[in-house]
Amino acid sequence: MNATPPAAASVVDRQQVIQAYRDNRVRTQVLFEMLTPDAYYEQPIPLRHPVVFYEGHIPAFAVNSFLKKGLGHPGLDSDLEALFARGIDPGDHASAAKSAPAVWPTRDEVRRYAETADDVILKALESDTIEREQNGSLYRGQGVFTMLEHEVMHQETLLYMWHQFGLEKKRRPAGHTIASTIAPVSSRREMVTIPAGRATLGATVTEVEFGWDNEFPTSCVDVPAFAIDLHNVTNAGFLAFVEAGGYNDANLWTHEAWKRLAESGRQHPWFWELIDGDWYWRGMFDRVPLPLAWPVYVTHDEASAFARWRRQRLPTEAEYHRAAYGTPAGTERSYPWGDGKPDPTHGNFDFCRWDPVPVGSSPDGASAWGVQDLVGNGWEWTSTVFGGFPGFEVMASYPEYSADFFDGDHFVVKGASPATGHGLIRRSFRNWFRPSYPYMYASFRCVQDDA
Ligand SMILES: [Fe+2]
Repeated sequence: MNATPPAAASVVDRQQVIQAYRDNRVRTQVLFEMLTPDAYYEQPIPLRHPVVFYEGHIPAFAVNSFLKKGLGHPGLDSDLEALFARGIDPGDHASAAKSAPAVWPTRDEVRRYAETADDVILKALESDTIEREQNGSLYRGQGVFTMLEHEVMHQETLLYMWHQFGLEKKRRPAGHTIASTIAPVSSRREMVTIPAGRATLGATVTEVEFGWDNEFPTSCVDVPAFAIDLHNVTNAGFLAFVEAGGYNDANLWTHEAWKRLAESGRQHPWFWELIDGDWYWRGMFDRVPLPLAWPVYVTHDEASAFARWRRQRLPTEAEYHRAAYGTPAGTERSYPWGDGKPDPTHGNFDFCRWDPVPVGSSPDGASAWGVQDLVGNGWEWTSTVFGGFPGFEVMASYPEYSADFFDGDHFVVKGASPATGHGLIRRSFRNWFRPSYPYMYASFRCVQDDA
């Protein structure tokens, strides 16, 4: 008998990751072309960098994390790789002020850098050793997947930044249509009871092709019975809260949330506009009468206040898992709909649309309990403060990715939005935001303890 342990199977399929890299670059280019050229040095979100930064950041991050850290490559341009190294965590005023240079490079300079980076990276993906067991950054191809998923995540960030631009700064892609804004909305609120059971959060390193550090290891949680909304809270549902004076009732908001609300001066969700007494939705390319059947996009502060108004609460991360992946038989699925790979029939994700669709539009994506739209059409707020699972360890290729945000001031969101790439749709994937950050595509539903 041979006593030598078998060599670890290769995780990275070169042709697949080369294709994924190329697809990413094409999509990123399409996104940048959605803006008029005069928007290039503008900052649609004050505490984020101007547009130019992101066109340089995506390739510079790939060079820094994959070529330099993973492969020991000397890099391509140390000045640009320092300039484009890191984005800004919104809320960190000091770093925003410090990191903005007086003059940004020209667009030609940024594009030349990106093209050179693409050439060198594709050659490395073609023929370098990109997977190595003894090197943390290359273990199971970590550096490759870090680079690929980083770009996909930025594509979503870009889109919600673009969303903030005036309509005159955006070019509508050919064939773009907006979903029905006049779909009927049910006045009946339906809830689904999920019996007590176990939820497996996270994953083991070998059961997924790749995961970020905060996805490991698994964490099993016993979840008592609860009832959860069948659908996300809609604009119609949230309008009732607005009209009932929810934004003026301090009792519905935590002390901190009330302070943040006062600072913002807002009286309604960020994506809404009130014009001559009528409500409108500020979409990516259109301003339309408020689509009552669409999920409302709100902050964690707003979602929590609404839930309190309804004498309910937001789900925990573990409750989300039970509703999305649990089954009456006690097993757990890979996706709410089963184990089949995500496709557009399962939900509104992967850049098929630039705005939401009416809730309940993807019945094929329902969970085993019949709960709808848990993946797609907007991230789902949870009440869980972002942190590592017991046994968490930082990852070699991007050590600051999660740990920098274990500060008690970020909440976990799960699922996906219309601007979430299909590669990020996996059970263990976790995203997180500050509780009053209003720009991203986050929806919610309420839960209550099972009586
Ligand atoms: Fe980044």
